[in-house]
Amino acid sequence: MLGKDLSQVTPDDLQPVDEFHIRGDVATRELIELSGFTPEMHILDVGCGIGGSTRRLSAQAGCRVTGIDLSEDYIDTAIRLTDLLNMQDSVDFHAASALELPFDDDAFGGVWSLQMNMNVEDKLGWLLETCRVLKPGGRAVLYEVCGSRNEPLYFPVPWAQDDSMSYLVPPAAFREVIESAGFDVEVWNDKTDLARRAFADVQEPTGDPDLPVLGVYMLVGNDIKTKAYNLRRNLEEDRVSLIETVVIKRGT
Ligand SMILES: C[S@@+](CC[C@H](N)C(=O)[O-])C[C@H]1O[C@@H](n2cnc3c(N)ncnc32)[C@H](O)[C@@H]1O
Repeated sequence: MLGKDLSQVTPDDLQPVDEFHIRGDVATRELIELSGFTPEMHILDVGCGIGGSTRRLSAQAGCRVTGIDLSEDYIDTAIRLTDLLNMQDSVDFHAASALELPFDDDAFGGVWSLQMNMNVEDKLGWLLETCRVLKPGGRAVLYEVCGSRNEPLYFPVPWAQDDSMSYLVPPAAFREVIESAGFDVEVWNDKTDLARRAFADVQEPTGDPDLPVLGVYMLVGNDIKTKAYNLRRNLEEDRVSLIETVVIKRGT
């Protein structure tokens, strides 16, 4: 598809489609720096999609990473791409819900969740599960889209066709749920300005979409340009914000 021998494909070749969050691999690299995850840790990626940032985290931090996602199709794709890249010894994937994680209490040294809360109505349920599987004192890195001062959102957006699938809460409410679930907040960065800059050039689409060979439209549909334009408007008009946070499970 890329005119490349499949045995020569690298993680960077897949980046246009497999790191499905605002600012893509640039954000992933920043989050890895922030995480403090080290090679002896086993990390859980909750809502891993097709596993691009799962693989990048493992490759860069040197740790074992397990990814889970609600979508069996995404998990099948994540496994096939991981085999293609020969990373199956350090990264594994399972279909599961963030609300019912199939792991023991205190099983992981760290948790990593990038832009998966937008479709999750029960945010306390998700964060209680995240807290349960994390070792006391362990860190969870969350990079999440939140609501903001104004409503309603312009739809469709990359995560939802309409408001029946989108559950955003403003940053202050998100922080309250995080703390109620059993975490202390160590780092709290509002990344909305960077997100606005990343989308500043997105224009209202006209005519046929001119789509690249590889892109996130493969995951969100051919109306990706309309969705990206609406995301730009939602960011600029304070309807959507972007939060990066590192939280620590209470207890020792
Ligand atoms: C925008 S994608 C982000 C994927 C990945 N974290 C990344 O950054 O490339 C959101 C992902 O969250 C997953 N998701 C949404 N709700 C979920 C839930 N309740 N349990 C597990 N995964 C969920 C979706 O299937 C989707 O793959």
